[in-house]
Amino acid sequence: MNNAHQSSNATNLDEALTLPCGAVLKNRLVKSPMSDSLGNGQGDPTPQQTRLYEIWAHGGIALSIIGEVQIDPGFAEKPGNLVLGPQSDHQALKQLTSRATVDGAHLWAQLGHAGALSHAPISQAKGPSALDLPELKCAGMSMADIKALPYAYAQAAGIAKHVGFTGLLLHAGHGFLLSQFLSPLFNHRADEYGGNIEGRMRIVLEIVDAMRQQVGATFPIGMRINSTDLLEGGLTEEDALQAISMLDQTSVDLIDISGGTYFPGAKAASDGQAEGGPYFLDFARRAKQLTQIPLMSTGGFKHQAQAQAAIANGDVDMVGLARVMILDPALPKAWLEGSNSDPIFPRFATNPEGGVTAWYTMQMVALGEDKGQQSSLDLPKVLSIYAARDEQRCALWQSKFTHAD
Ligand SMILES: Cc1cc2nc3c(=O)[nH]c(=O)nc-3n(C[C@H](O)[C@H](O)[C@H](O)COP(=O)(O)O)c2cc1C
Repeated sequence: MNNAHQSSNATNLDEALTLPCGAVLKNRLVKSPMSDSLGNGQGDPTPQQTRLYEIWAHGGIALSIIGEVQIDPGFAEKPGNLVLGPQSDHQALKQLTSRATVDGAHLWAQLGHAGALSHAPISQAKGPSALDLPELKCAGMSMADIKALPYAYAQAAGIAKHVGFTGLLLHAGHGFLLSQFLSPLFNHRADEYGGNIEGRMRIVLEIVDAMRQQVGATFPIGMRINSTDLLEGGLTEEDALQAISMLDQTSVDLIDISGGTYFPGAKAASDGQAEGGPYFLDFARRAKQLTQIPLMSTGGFKHQAQAQAAIANGDVDMVGLARVMILDPALPKAWLEGSNSDPIFPRFATNPEGGVTAWYTMQMVALGEDKGQQSSLDLPKVLSIYAARDEQRCALWQSKFTHAD
């Protein structure tokens, strides 16, 4: 799916970046977190998942981030997620991390908890506040639930380090638990974890501190945050900028700027058909004024020239790539060699909710199975295959986790 033609542009994308903790990323390209549906349904990796991340490492990426690695099996985003907990299969995880870090690539785990958006068949959703909306219902967290979070994230962080992940990305975007805390739409708390942005950020800062204590000073910890929820009453750009000022006082090594949520019916960046982009660079330029921490932005990068300009202009330090890394897993190599090889995005006749994300997910499955570009462009059909796959895994998930702990 390449539209390759040579360019004589020297590239600034292959300059290494040293993070505040001292870790070095070998170039400026990151494979952004994507939930790949390749876990075994019991929170552990499959050989196909290991293969997918090995392919990306061979493709020249500096850092690959596994999406939605759960800290608690009771609040997963999908039954294909990994879980880092007492029951994790360390041997399978070590296989994954050793093969996915070939050629000097980093492999980080995106630590998540889906909160109010936990996958219904395998969880009882709970967010910062109880919600009873037509589209979304969930229970509210008790103070004890909140106080338990820093330890739970730190425990998962410790396991990640032990099994060979080379860093962590705390997920505070896209409407999942920490993004819910940041959002006035989800967080109606009247105690110290709600109210103004200082209160809504409190749990995030406590978690960062607990993770840092667990993994030590030289292990990378990044955070993904929304620039805006793109929802009326959600996190605004002004509040997100304040949150970034607060992060500047922490030991975070990389801030990844994203936006949008998976609130039912809302627009998610992953479900668009490739129009426009890059989406969040205006915001990144404002954030740059507020922090010394390296910045990354994901969303809408499709052309080598866009990536080069974002780095050359100093808007961001790292460029996050998601869908293009599925369309061409070796894109970093091509871009670093100066070959202006931009993937061609597929066009779909219909766009049912979740259909585009399902299509990209099934492409990741095909890559992990070494089948190349496989899935049909018929999104309703792809959605039904994807849903059946999740349904099968829900049964496996329940059999493993219902009686655990
Ligand atoms: C199939 C798929 C799964 C995704 N899963 C995650 C995820 O687990 N965590 C996350 O933070 N973002 C996730 N995203 C969002 C991407 O990281 C990215 O922000 C979005 O696709 C926009 O970037 P792009 O224009 O480069 O695709 C996912 C996107 C896709 C297409």
